Amino acid sequence: MATTKDYRLGDFTFPRGWFMIATADEINTHKPIPVRFFGRDFALYRGQATGRVVLLDAYCPHMKTHLAAENDTSYVIIDGGGTNIEGDSIRCPYHAWRFGPDGQCDDIPYHEGPIPKSACIKAWPVAESMGAIWIWHDPENGEPEWDHPSLPQWDDKSWVHWRFDDLGILEQHPQEVIDNICDYGHLSPIHGSTVQRYENEFDGHLAIQRQCGPHRTLVGDDGASPVLHTITKYHGPGVLLSHLTGYYESYLMITHTPVEDGSVRVWHALLVKSPGGNEVATVEDGIAARQFQDASKFAFMQDFQVWSNKAPCLNGLFIPSDGPFMKARIWYKQFFNPKVRKDEFQGKVNGVYVPKGIPPYTQD
Ligand code: FES
Ligand SMILES: [Fe+2]
Repeated sequence: MATTKDYRLGDFTFPRGWFMIATADEINTHKPIPVRFFGRDFALYRGQATGRVVLLDAYCPHMKTHLAAENDTSYVIIDGGGTNIEGDSIRCPYHAWRFGPDGQCDDIPYHEGPIPKSACIKAWPVAESMGAIWIWHDPENGEPEWDHPSLPQWDDKSWVHWRFDDLGILEQHPQEVIDNICDYGHLSPIHGSTVQRYENEFDGHLAIQRQCGPHRTLVGDDGASPVLHTITKYHGPGVLLSHLTGYYESYLMITHTPVEDGSVRVWHALLVKSPGGNEVATVEDGIAARQFQDASKFAFMQDFQVWSNKAPCLNGLFIPSDGPFMKARIWYKQFFNPKVRKDEFQGKVNGVYVPKGIPPYTQD
């Protein structure tokens, strides 16, 4: 398992950006859940008072009890009706210190007098959208630099909501996944695409791929494959959104979040515009959309299976007809280094790149 250091990405082990950490329906007001990403443990729960999502470091500052680990024996949990969530706060099962959603301890039942300010646990910026829970992860603890992932189509009733495919943990550094955004050469052999036009663009925190051509995987029930256009964007280092206009118009989302240094947890999802052309998606639309998501998942598994078994590509043997891998790797570095250096990396890569031997992308 190769690490961030092996890929020489920068100062930080884990990158800055928005990352998916759970599906929205995994968390409820009854039970906090333990999650582990970025080499650390968190307690994730939904507040009972407001329904807001709260993400705290997992370990209580008092004596390091895990706030969200399985516990059905503490009287904090038993007397709480099976939970240690209290309003929007959470109570430690061990000595019952209570922490607000900002991480500050606001109650110690056996203590009178002021609560020390240091009785505080780190609270992380989180957001909920499109059925997912997101963290803004920043090694420098800065404010989010761009909005959390969202699509206006999510609130449009003619689109069928996705159901997340949880692909589990991939024992591979995310660099190997990021490389895919500019991997022109794999589109035909892996995905069965007959690429007609192709280009990449880097623009600040976005890495973009535009391409079109017939496709052997993303086809309709009848096997027909109209020309598939995909405009794919990495919004920062962990969230890929791709607009597909082919058989059915849809948005593909692939998220990958570092778990340890050299592994990621991966989700796949597809938002599909009513296949029947209805203003409000019907049950039949839902069935067709699920089938199309399955085809999309298969297309993604074509990548995933290779990644699951490959050796780390620390020094690729790239040729001019490949996509701009080295540019994408420099683009990726901006998230592993202090924010003050981001212009330096962006300045080296911002622009449009077309591999040798293929026309640049145009819409028609
Ligand atoms: S360890 Fe959490 S209250 Fe003591
Ligand atoms: Fe791919």
